[in-house]
Amino acid sequence: MRIVSGIQPTGNLHLGNYLGAIRNWVAMQDEVSAQGGQCLYFLADLHAISMPHTPADLAANTREMVAALVACGIDPDRSILFNQAQVPQHAELQWLLNGTARMGWLNRMTQWKDKAGKNREGASVALFTYPVLQAADVLLYGATHVPVGDDQKQHLELARDIAQKFNNDFCAPDAPLFTLPAPFIPPEAARIMSLRDGTAKMSKSDPSDMSRINMTDSADTIMQKVRKAKTDPEPLPADKTELDARPEAKNLVAIYAAMAGSNVDGVLATFGGEGFGRFKPALGELLVEKLGPINARFLELREDREALDAILRQGSEKARALAVPMLGRTYAALGLVRG
Ligand code: TYM
Repeated sequence: MRIVSGIQPTGNLHLGNYLGAIRNWVAMQDEVSAQGGQCLYFLADLHAISMPHTPADLAANTREMVAALVACGIDPDRSILFNQAQVPQHAELQWLLNGTARMGWLNRMTQWKDKAGKNREGASVALFTYPVLQAADVLLYGATHVPVGDDQKQHLELARDIAQKFNNDFCAPDAPLFTLPAPFIPPEAARIMSLRDGTAKMSKSDPSDMSRINMTDSADTIMQKVRKAKTDPEPLPADKTELDARPEAKNLVAIYAAMAGSNVDGVLATFGGEGFGRFKPALGELLVEKLGPINARFLELREDREALDAILRQGSEKARALAVPMLGRTYAALGLVRG
């Protein structure tokens, strides 16, 4: 098994990232490395330049994100932890795959449509070709599984389409170059929603900080955000189908289930019939209990810039060693002469 996944170093790690992806990165690291497989986790800093950004913030956020990932349990001795910018083979493979990706495929990407909005002409070319870089990220390492939240599913389907077409067009039927990567999406936390609007996903780009729990929030802030989270006046139901028409309540129950390592039925067995006056403090306390140690470790790690840079340097070196041969095979498959 080869596990590969990435995160953009644009600001804080939030609870959606943690429950949708990072927690599974850690679980897979523990499982897969014990079986002799390999995990590669990276900061998608090249993806981050597809939107307007401030260079000094990108550099600071990249180091902060390394500290956050290590605080969450990513162990740089067992997983390869790196940033794309130090492994130029990602960008090179993207160019080679640009010959295979189709305009029509990219035009259908919902994230492109959402982020470009009405101003497509003014969006960066990088925002449009972003999913091809994402395909390169995973195909470069022969990823078998990619742990992500639900919002990345479409991008991974595109990576599979690119791999399939490349294999068909340029490889012998019995010797495909690229492995088709399978998304791994956690059922209880596929899409954590905003605390202010149960129909919008929890996101770093939401202007309201009250909409998300950041992994850096203090215990007081977490309790306050949960207390102020939007809900409805009804008590929690005993049956989960009754949550379907109540997106905010459904989201809080899903967060509780994911944090407690339970499921929605289990949470409703305990809290069905209770009002939010009782459920919200219980949820807040659970979050504080689980996130407190991560927060403390993060604050400690982020002070040591040299150690963070060393993690990225060493991880990038290991990633390059895996990336170079695959890139060489891709050049050869395309008939590109390199001496
Ligand atoms: P990014 O940086 O937006 O998010 C990182 C991971 O967090 C998940 N996530 C969520 N999961 C559940 N609920 C939410 N509200 C929520 N918000 C974010 C995302 O699904 C993701 O798994 N394009 C990617 C980064 C990337 C990548 C890759 C991922 C670049 N190359 C290759 C996998 C493989 C992104 O912007 O994720």
